[in-house]
Parts: sequence; structure tokens; C-alpha cells
Amino acid sequence: MGDYPQVDTVIEQIPDHVAIIMDGNGRWAQQTGKERKEGHQEGMEAIRRVTIRASERGIKVLTLYAFSTENWKRPPQEVKFLMQLPVKFFDRFVPELQENNIKVNMIGFKDKVPGSTKKAIEKAIDETKNNTGMILNFAFNYGGRAEIVEATKSLFDKVLSGQINKKDISEEVLQAELLTNSITPYDDVDLLIRSSGEQRLSNFLLWQNAYSEFYFSKLFWPEFTGEVLDKALLDYQYRSRRYGAI
Ligand code: FPP
Repeated sequence: MGDYPQVDTVIEQIPDHVAIIMDGNGRWAQQTGKERKEGHQEGMEAIRRVTIRASERGIKVLTLYAFSTENWKRPPQEVKFLMQLPVKFFDRFVPELQENNIKVNMIGFKDKVPGSTKKAIEKAIDETKNNTGMILNFAFNYGGRAEIVEATKSLFDKVLSGQINKKDISEEVLQAELLTNSITPYDDVDLLIRSSGEQRLSNFLLWQNAYSEFYFSKLFWPEFTGEVLDKALLDYQYRSRRYGAI
């Protein structure tokens, strides 16, 4: 862990909501002479490692960007493979999620997701619904701009039907319409992590990242471990969050 102290010695500032852009599965595979799908397969192992560590560290919500609304532009074979990943993941790991009292949640647009994928996600949500520990929140067919557009439409309908008054629309009212209303009170991201050396947001939780701290790792997602998460958490301890104040 280099120059960093052990994470448990500075545990007082554990972020409630950690969100991760899991990037670099394809490049990891290419670099090691494997097919892209092997990168995604290894990516699932990384999800498992990081989820368990995040739960041990007392994080309340871990949101993982698993499939974006833009990922449909990938070749059909890869899209098909990515759509099967939740089925494989939950088949293998739900018992371990249960052991760790982890509750599964999903944010995203269910419309285009194949029935078998939807079923696997819904089953995992149902099987873990009574767990009281960390929420493992998959952003699947998720897009930040689309989320805000849908929230706007919903508010518009409410104004039209007289459920609310235009003058009463506030940040809190709009936020309550976002997909992250399923993880309230942890809607806002505290720490955003992106792997693979890229430093951009890619339409991920645009509203919810307004005041988050960013941590970028050069490692490809399949190389990500609990120790790397600890490193990000330790880095977070020394950030001074001012929310625009001085
Ligand atoms: C980014 O790598 C990764 C993805 C687009 C998919 C991530 C999904 C998983 C790791 C598994 C999802 C599992 C569940 C349970 C939903 P990339 O393909 O963009 O890599 P590249 O930028 O190197 O090409």
C-alpha cells in the first residue's frame, strides 16, 4: 500500500456513496492476448472483490456503471454478451451477497433490457431485499441525461395534473424524481472512482456527482482489487470537501 497508512486507522471519513466507472475490460484483454469477453469475465471477479471490501469498510451504497445507454452502439455480439453478465454474476454470487448482508438494487431503463437479464436482476433484488447492509446498486442501461429528461417529464405531468405547483419545484423536488430515489438518503455520490486512466464522467450520475471527489486509477478494471479501493478510500480521508464554501 505504498506510503498509505492502514485504512482502519483513519476510518472516520468513510464515504457513504461510492460510485465506480469500471473501465478497461477490453484493453486488459487485448493487452493479455485474450478476447474482449474474457475481459468482461474477469471484470466480474473484480466486482466481487471490490463489493466485499466496500461492504467490510462500511460503505452504504456502491454504485457500479455496468452498462450505459451508449453501450448499445457496440457490436451486437458484445452487447449480447454484456446482457448475459448479470445472469452469470447473480447465479454465482448471490449466496456470497447474502452472507455479507448485501442488498441488490438497480438504476436504469428496463425497456430495452432482454427478459432473461431483467428476470435475473429482479430475482437478485428480491432474494436480497431483507438484507440491511450495503446496497450494491447496478447502473444498467443507465444514462445521466436521459435520467434528467425523464425526471423533467414526470415533474411536468405533476404540474399539469395539479399535484404540484411550478413555484414549488426545487432541487429536492427534482432529485426525488431521479432513478436514485431508490437509494435515498444516499442519492449524492461522495467518491467517484474510474479505472483505466480515463478521466471523464461519461454520462454517469450527472446530477448526483455535483460535489463528489474524483479518484482515477491507471489500472484496468479486471486488475482492480480491494487494496486499490482502500487506496482510494485513504486518499478520500485527506480531501477537504467545502461544497462551495470556504
Ligand atoms: C468497460 O470496459 C466495461 C464495461 C462496458 C462493462 C462492465 C461490466 C462488467 C464488468 C460486468 C457487469 C456485471 C454485472 C453483474 C452487471 P470496456 O469494454 O469499455 O473496456 P475498454 O475501454 O478497454 O474497451
